[in-house]
Amino acid sequence: MIKSIAILTGGGDCPGLNAVIRGVVRAAIIKRGWSVVGIQDGFDGLIHGPQTIPLDLDSVRGILQRGGTILGTSNRGNPFRYPVPEGETFKMVDISQRVVDNFRKAGADALVVAGGDGTLKIARRLNDMGVPVVGVPKTIDNDLCGTDVTFGYNTAVGVVTEALDRLHTTAESHHRAIVVEVMGRDAGWIALESGIAGSADVILLPEIPFHIEQVCKHIDQRRQDGRRFHIVVVAEGAVPVGGHKVVQATAGQNCGTERLGGIGHQVAEAIQRRQGIETRTVVLGHLQRGGTPSAFDRILGSRFGVKAVELLERGEFGKMVALVGREVLATEIDLAVATMNRVDPQGNLVHTAEALGIMVGR
Ligand code: F6P
Repeated sequence: MIKSIAILTGGGDCPGLNAVIRGVVRAAIIKRGWSVVGIQDGFDGLIHGPQTIPLDLDSVRGILQRGGTILGTSNRGNPFRYPVPEGETFKMVDISQRVVDNFRKAGADALVVAGGDGTLKIARRLNDMGVPVVGVPKTIDNDLCGTDVTFGYNTAVGVVTEALDRLHTTAESHHRAIVVEVMGRDAGWIALESGIAGSADVILLPEIPFHIEQVCKHIDQRRQDGRRFHIVVVAEGAVPVGGHKVVQATAGQNCGTERLGGIGHQVAEAIQRRQGIETRTVVLGHLQRGGTPSAFDRILGSRFGVKAVELLERGEFGKMVALVGREVLATEIDLAVATMNRVDPQGNLVHTAEALGIMVGR
């Protein structure tokens, strides 16, 4: 019988996380009378002693429209590979038992973990070690399997689409090409959907290695057709044929992932050099992650939070909430982390883009 639960948010922040927290807290307290604690800064809050804050109805009042996460988060600190200083360098140690012990000290019967691929993998392993876990899929990149969509993604697409609308007017006025670099390490969903919504001329995705000559040819054709400006959307993980992802910073010993960035500048430079068109680059970066969530993400986050509590009540541990069609259901965490949800180069969305005359790099 559950009486008390804990919740943590891990990985990069994401619009809609507060809706999840609020959904969990309200569903746990209003109908069930459970108590809830929030664990601070992702798994860090269980690594450095249980760092918790009590969550009652007052503490989640007014947070639905707020971006970020009131609990804090971290995309470092994997307890199964934790960097400990050793001389001049670090060695990786498994401190997962400490996390399990600190979870027990926090006094909760079960744990809700909202996070992306990395966070959910950790959650799954902790579940195997006896921490009853339910997962909530989160990422603006929409690259998790097992759910039709993740919350945060809709907000990110909205932000990029608005940016493209704004960039159109300035590109048109100055007869320029503008290259817009957006997030999407391995999956180009944000680039593709916002590119379609924002009427881009070229969209470059991690899933379709691009030929820069083809991109330039497409722009040349547009010029011959009388078009005097060009909008190119590039996912940060896009790669030229035979090339590599552009990395801004490699993963340090205590930094989970390498930092991508710079492909937009490379594409812009190539367009300017080959076509002689004045070109600018805009890197939208964390603007896509910050700020108020869309109505869709507030609703999806709320549904996920409420469903997570239902799964805990039914003892469905090791599972994750997911949107399938119009329903929010339970699915295995294993399913979500086994592979990545990537754009199908032969799928309907890419086909739609190409049928609209958008060039996708091939
Ligand atoms: O996973 C979401 C994401 O937004 C990626 O698209 C991006 O590469 C990464 O997070 C950036 O993370 P950080 O906040 O560590 O720079």
